[in-house]
Amino acid sequence: MDRYAVVGNPIAHSKSPYIHQWFAEQTGQSLMYEKILVEMTAFDEDVSGFFALGGKGLNVTVPFKEQAFRFADVLTDRARLAGAVNTLALQNDGTVMGDNTDGAGLVADLLVQDWPLSGRRILVLGAGGAVRGIIGPLLEQKPESLLIANRTVKKAMAIAEAFPGGAVGASSYAELEGGFDLVINGTSASLANELPPLPAGLLGAQTAVYDLMYGVGPTAFLRWATEQGVERCSDGLGMLVQQAAEAFYLWRGVRPDTAPVVERLRRLVNAG
Ligand code: ATR
Repeated sequence: MDRYAVVGNPIAHSKSPYIHQWFAEQTGQSLMYEKILVEMTAFDEDVSGFFALGGKGLNVTVPFKEQAFRFADVLTDRARLAGAVNTLALQNDGTVMGDNTDGAGLVADLLVQDWPLSGRRILVLGAGGAVRGIIGPLLEQKPESLLIANRTVKKAMAIAEAFPGGAVGASSYAELEGGFDLVINGTSASLANELPPLPAGLLGAQTAVYDLMYGVGPTAFLRWATEQGVERCSDGLGMLVQQAAEAFYLWRGVRPDTAPVVERLRRLVNAG
């Protein structure tokens, strides 16, 4: 049976085995998918070992996405642009391809939820690994504007500069003014139950707000957005399922139906 896995550190919390098992059942694919805890210094060794023993593909999560980028023999354009890899796939010639399906997953989830991106003014908060992967795919949707704000402005500028023609802007939080159609929280602040220091009046009833994180109930950022009068809020659970569907397609050539898997995963997460 073809073997797949997700590698990370920590990894116990990962929901990817459920998602891929449900995709496999739904599409009649026969495969095994497990989670593997990789020690901080053992990524290359463990991943080489996995493929040497016949493994077909890996998902890669925190903190190894940059290492997976360096590990891959060949890269997709979107992985190169992101500077990070979340999916590795063994190819017929024995080489390992690195892809990044995070941004495509986010865009797919936004479109499924009927949040159009074309012609919209988009603000992305944060400039870490999570944000690097989503800027290219967001830009492909032809927003009116795309701005990255970060506590450390230099990091936002470094990401923006990778895109030609000034298509992506960079800003501090203090400089931000309102007027955005969509605000995406890509900071890890919600993990510590914190908020980026955003100016009052940034969000309004017309703003749609998305957090790349998810958990039981709304994140700190989504709770704050609701207090600001925002009506359209979403966490990143749909993105998680969509990025997995992109990886599944890359490995198996079959596109799973994501809606029932999102529903089932939501029930699982809420059950704790
Ligand atoms: P990830 O891979 O999850 O993106 P990361 O690369 O460590 O993790 O990036 C974390 C992001 O969250 C950064 O943009 C960080 O801001 P700085 O670059 O200024 O450090 C942001 N972040 C984390 N905690 C934050 C907080 N309490 N307020 C604002 N931004 C925060």
